[in-house]
Amino acid sequence: MVVGAQWGDEGKGKVIDFYAAEADVVVRFNGGNNAGHTIMFGDLEFKFHLLPSGIVRKNVTAVMGNGMVIDPDVLLKEIAYLRSKGVSSFKLLISERAQVIMPYHPVVDGLEESLKGSLKAGTTGRGIGPAYSDKVARFGITMGDLLDEKLLAQKLGAAVAARQRLMAAYGRNEELQFQKMLKDHLKMGGQLKKYITNVSSFLNTAIREGKNILFEGAQGTLLDPDHGTYPYVTSSNAVAGAAAVGSGIGPRAIDWVIGVSKAYTTRVGEGPFPTELRDDIGEHIRKVGCEFGTTTGRPRRCGWLDMPALAHAVDVNGLDALAITKLDVLGGLRRIKMAVGYKHAGKRLGGFPSNIRVLGEAEPVYKEMDGWDALKTEKWTALAKEGYDALPDAALEYLAFIKGELGIPIELVSIGPSREATIDLRGMPGIR
Ligand code: GDP
Ligand code: IMO
Ligand code: MG
Repeated sequence: MVVGAQWGDEGKGKVIDFYAAEADVVVRFNGGNNAGHTIMFGDLEFKFHLLPSGIVRKNVTAVMGNGMVIDPDVLLKEIAYLRSKGVSSFKLLISERAQVIMPYHPVVDGLEESLKGSLKAGTTGRGIGPAYSDKVARFGITMGDLLDEKLLAQKLGAAVAARQRLMAAYGRNEELQFQKMLKDHLKMGGQLKKYITNVSSFLNTAIREGKNILFEGAQGTLLDPDHGTYPYVTSSNAVAGAAAVGSGIGPRAIDWVIGVSKAYTTRVGEGPFPTELRDDIGEHIRKVGCEFGTTTGRPRRCGWLDMPALAHAVDVNGLDALAITKLDVLGGLRRIKMAVGYKHAGKRLGGFPSNIRVLGEAEPVYKEMDGWDALKTEKWTALAKEGYDALPDAALEYLAFIKGELGIPIELVSIGPSREATIDLRGMPGIR
């Protein structure tokens, strides 16, 4: 399993694409089109919001689990996008139990954000929060419902009546078009019918047959509503434990969890970020790392690596190993810092605080190390071929420090956006 160990956009798509070479099945289990996962190989670049990144690998079955929220219109467009990029024979399964993002969900998303003042999360506006709210409030519609006119009409009738009132209470009086929604969704259901199935049953059979299953987390640990910087989080669990619930397998089927972290930290949207850099160095990272949101295009906030936050991610996910991405981006900085703790009101804090006011006011305690030279992308890719030892000494020291501090191995190092710019450290016990 691959999960984000920070605030999302750690490079999960790239890491999934790398490991998918060995997988039979790749499964998304949380989130919706708030995610944006980038993969690059050859001269191709794909940005996926809903489809599991493994879908570009010929032998992989891509699975969308029940834990997802799916906007069927966005999904149909993404399937067309995949075809337009030359991937026409793919294997896709969609859980009949996954929730549908309905047209009123993005509207409510915007209305609720505007009521929250400084507590707004800066959502992607895709209707994620309201869709998950409707799921637990039992107003939700599932992908399977799109194949059953009678049931869809019944559920949609109740949901539209309630959501119409909610929108009016928020001051929005446009009328929700029940008949049109019913017709459109039955049509989209028909178009997606061949993919919609009992995913849990498929996965459990695959497990019994000894197939390799790779889980693709969306978002990241600090955006998890239970373990993140609540309420500046997303609305579905992003930690490793969510994969079992979100796909319909037992927890013991998961035998290896990899947390992805950039060599620094970014965050898109609102909320506390202790190591954020509002200076030239932050600007350097944003520019060199192309730190602009894959989904919304917003500039990402950039800062130093945050060890207390990562240690928290090791705990709440039960991480077995780390994948460190974007090491190349720090090239060219004379000195590199990393937070090894926080201070608040003159006192050193233990661990990662749950109180967002304290986290927002916390001052990082930094350790400093030497940096390494900037290199062109092609140079980094060439280094990846030579292997771990070829990395600059200061970069090796930085990685060794991270590993030592967190007490888990680093099993993959990424030094460029393409598939080729990856160093696989599995089977190198001395180093990792
Ligand atoms: P995800 O949401 O975790 O899949 O990450 P995103 O795709 O949203 O953002 C990661 C960005 O960093 C993408 O543009 C990737 O192409 C890029 N990327 C991934 N790994 C590396 C790396 O090692 N170096 C550089 N320079 N870019 C990378
Ligand atoms: P991937 O999978 C980074 C952030 C939003 C906002 C908060 C809530 O690409 O890593 P939402 O629309 O989910 O209700 O927004 O969560 N957010 C992400 N940030 N990467 C993501 O996904 C994100 N998905 C949601 O910016 O702060
Ligand atoms: Mg992303």
